[in-house]
Amino acid sequence: MITHHSAADVPSASCLPDYIKTLTQQLNQHNYNYYVLDNPTISDYEFDQLLEELQRLEKEYPQYIQPDSPTLRIGGEITKQFVTVAHVFPMLSLGNTYSIEEIEEFDKRVQNALIEKPEYVCELKYDGVAISLIYEKGILLRAVTRGDGIQGDDVTQNVKTIKSIPLKLFGDFPDFLEVRGEILLPHQVFHKLNEEREDIGEPPFANPRNAASGSLKLQDSAEVAKRGLDCRLYLVLGENLPFETHFNSFFKLKEWGFKTPDVLQKCNSIDEIRAFINHWDTEREKLSFDIDGVVIKVNHIFQQQQLGATAKNPRWAIAYKFKAQRQLTPLLSVDFQVGRTGVVTPVANLQPVLLAGTVVKRASLHNYDIIQQLDIHDNDFLYVEKGGEIIPKIVGVELSKRLPNAQKVTFISHCPSCNTLLTRKEGEAGFYCPNEWECPPQVKGKLEHFISRKAMNIDSLGEGKIYMLLDNGLVKSSADFYNLKQELLLGLEKRITGENNEQRIVSFREKTVENMLAGIEQSKNVPFERVLFAIGIRYVGETTAKKLARYFKNIDAIANASKEELKAVDDVGEQVAESIVQFFNTVENLENVVKLRKAGVQFELNEESREPISNVLDGKSIVVSGVFSISRDEMKQKIEQHGGKNVSSISKNTDFVVAGDNMGPEKRKKAEKLGIPILSEEEFELMVNQQKIIFS
Ligand code: IVH
Repeated sequence: MITHHSAADVPSASCLPDYIKTLTQQLNQHNYNYYVLDNPTISDYEFDQLLEELQRLEKEYPQYIQPDSPTLRIGGEITKQFVTVAHVFPMLSLGNTYSIEEIEEFDKRVQNALIEKPEYVCELKYDGVAISLIYEKGILLRAVTRGDGIQGDDVTQNVKTIKSIPLKLFGDFPDFLEVRGEILLPHQVFHKLNEEREDIGEPPFANPRNAASGSLKLQDSAEVAKRGLDCRLYLVLGENLPFETHFNSFFKLKEWGFKTPDVLQKCNSIDEIRAFINHWDTEREKLSFDIDGVVIKVNHIFQQQQLGATAKNPRWAIAYKFKAQRQLTPLLSVDFQVGRTGVVTPVANLQPVLLAGTVVKRASLHNYDIIQQLDIHDNDFLYVEKGGEIIPKIVGVELSKRLPNAQKVTFISHCPSCNTLLTRKEGEAGFYCPNEWECPPQVKGKLEHFISRKAMNIDSLGEGKIYMLLDNGLVKSSADFYNLKQELLLGLEKRITGENNEQRIVSFREKTVENMLAGIEQSKNVPFERVLFAIGIRYVGETTAKKLARYFKNIDAIANASKEELKAVDDVGEQVAESIVQFFNTVENLENVVKLRKAGVQFELNEESREPISNVLDGKSIVVSGVFSISRDEMKQKIEQHGGKNVSSISKNTDFVVAGDNMGPEKRKKAEKLGIPILSEEEFELMVNQQKIIFS
């Protein structure tokens, strides 16, 4: 059991190097307990305190920084160009098949080549990015992508930020070790990342694998650190390794500190292999990450060596790939949609087709480059696939069904909405419409963003109402909401076409108008940090807005800051700083901000509102789960205002869970198993109002 120093133990100068070493070791152990064993032994708060202490000491005494310092995981190193390096052992890929018969043939081939009957190990086939990790004397020296199998990209700085990858090994390890596995992005993190990207006007990633691969290639490792990448390591290479079977290699991998596959099964017959495959073909839907098949490996390393490899694949392993549900359907037309930031997304309209239980009528073609790659022609028959992920995608064209003289689908040159000439930014895959103040979907998108829940949260306005206000010329930019008057709104009419083509005129009822105006009025109390997010500066998401607001305290300071000054804020890199400067260099934006300020919207940090209301939750780690009468963000804010700390997952250090409606069953089970109290929203309210102390 590791004991840890508290920040109060001030080391004397002579033992400082040892102290830094111990602190490094302790933090690495806690990191392993949390990210690999899923069994933390200290609270997040205590961990953060220790990490901060180490950071402080490292800053003061950089000569004592350890090569496995956990502060490396925070990132900050910039890789301008990833260097290509040769693999120590070629990085082969697996032969793969979609048929059980071919697995039977693989088994026959293996049996024929061996004297003794083989035992197999079945594993999941992780759908991520393959990685090779090199350790020398137990220290992570290099992390390299597969590349062409002979050489790959050195992504060491980025990989060091992944918390489930050990920077230094535990126990008794060989001097040289290569470990291979997969970097992946769990579903939950993937969805959160895509939500954040949409918030800042970036196109979402198509699937977790693309997101993982894109993240590994980011230039700023501090950005990678925030992406929440994870890994599974499944292969050890080296000399005189301390195990004789693949199955036993995992005990060593674990002992050394690696995160290993979730499921492993020894199989001694084709029937057992078939059962494993069938089980995971359906159960995979319940996993929190993507798999695209299972891998079957000969267990004995000696037998693996006897079998050897072809030029491309080892003969001792094979991948069974799950059939992606795929259909062939004709293309009816291609639409081009314009989003809030002007990015143009091509969407294929398809003849409706049943795929994995749902009817698919449309599929995103993502961007110009993808249309080019697929080389789609009018009326082509397209293959639509649904893998582990929810969004169907076009994976190919059936050339034999192409009509003679069919014309190639071309990307539009002008905005489908406002006819402005589209432009393309250096290094970006898509085109966008630069007419941000007049182009209707961009104007509407900006307004919708402004009123959205995480921004000004004006829920008495919605898409339909915004259409009506736009149609009647009452709003053009967000500041116009604050000039709306009852008499203007009451008379508004809109013609709508019903299901049977009958025409109806609708107008706002008095109650609706009252609600709309009350919602707008209330939004004047929304704190500055959310206003800063609401005004829609490209790349400024919720968190960046918070950090900017806290650092600069008011809008004038932000508007007048230079790029360098902006970059002093944690989270703000070149791209974000550039975008902020550009925003405030645009007259329309400045005018809108001035009008919003005149209307009474908050453009200054209100320090008072951030003062704690009470300390009743002081030092408590709290998890919120489910739906409450207030938004989850408001619930979290409340916890902070009473001195509590929000944590995202339940561990034995969680003090209690506040459960709303529909609390996740897994979370409930975990809380019950660990004996963590679960409070209802009402009980929590009583607690913070100090009418009843539930427990001490
Ligand atoms: S073993 C010598 N095991 O699938 C081949 N690969 O071509 C060693 N993959 O290259 C690979 N899950 O990127 C192995 N449990 C698993 C895997 C796995 C995913 C990937 C890996 C490999 C590709 C197949």
